[in-house]
Amino acid sequence: MRKSREVRSVASLANETERVWVDSMAEAYERWLTPTVFRPFARDLARRVSAHAPPRVLELAAGTGVLTRELLATVDSARVTATDLNPAMVDVGRRRAPGATWRQADAMELPFAAGEFDLITCQFGVMFFPDKAAAFAEARRVLTPDGALLLSTWGTLETHDFQAALVAGLERAFPEDPPTFMVSVPHGYADADIVVADLRAGGLDAVRVETVTLEGHAASAADLAAGYCTGTPLRPAIEARGDLSSTTAVVAQQMEARLGTGAVKGSMTAHVIEAVPT
Ligand SMILES: C[S@@+](CC[C@H](N)C(=O)[O-])C[C@H]1O[C@@H](n2cnc3c(N)ncnc32)[C@H](O)[C@@H]1O
Repeated sequence: MRKSREVRSVASLANETERVWVDSMAEAYERWLTPTVFRPFARDLARRVSAHAPPRVLELAAGTGVLTRELLATVDSARVTATDLNPAMVDVGRRRAPGATWRQADAMELPFAAGEFDLITCQFGVMFFPDKAAAFAEARRVLTPDGALLLSTWGTLETHDFQAALVAGLERAFPEDPPTFMVSVPHGYADADIVVADLRAGGLDAVRVETVTLEGHAASAADLAAGYCTGTPLRPAIEARGDLSSTTAVVAQQMEARLGTGAVKGSMTAHVIEAVPT
């Protein structure tokens, strides 16, 4: 009963924006993607945040809280407020990182007063904001004048072994009309010069731009395929084209052909950018 309601709700989203994240996707994302793809970068970003020793930290697009947990463990005596647009992600995040104050919020319209935070951080979220400069202006508004924004965005698809293998799998599953989500959204903001220009338009100066390459590890290519196909906005895109479980199996096979059988590892590259109010 519950399952058929979920499937209907996912299918009904198929024609809407690919940026939609729905209920069970949050659990799948947390289970298969956060430990393999997102945690290595969360550890790196939390370490950078910690160097600022900020008393009040705001996290944008916090998802299920992988970075939130690292911030709580790493940044001494910080008060962490974690936000995300999607209530389902906030629900999972609140359970997984109860030490933070969780709030549903659109990064483009933050429910906070000017100057409320000493540091704002955002891991792999900015690519999803429809108007990046407007979101950066919002971040600047709620930062103290001597605060900082620390964000990350993926490099190009070719620099991410897991996601390049995933896209090859989707092309195998749907040769005529593969979903374009991975290239257009997660890897669609890979030019650091454009990020720097958008920051400037939002009233922030990029003071450090670093390209960071880390290794991800997963128990199998099939786990990664399950995470990407059922735990991201690819899910409604796949549902719109065919059967979710048989497509996930085709994608898993193709990912295994590229990444290998058994436990797999892959290189992943991101830009990590620090900006301060101009
Ligand atoms: C790839 S996930 C990253 C989540 C988390 N930061 C992590 O590292 O696992 C992107 C997140 O952006 C959120 N998101 C998309 N548009 C948003 C917006 N306008 N404001 C806030 N969050 C948004 C999604 O709900 C999703 O949780």
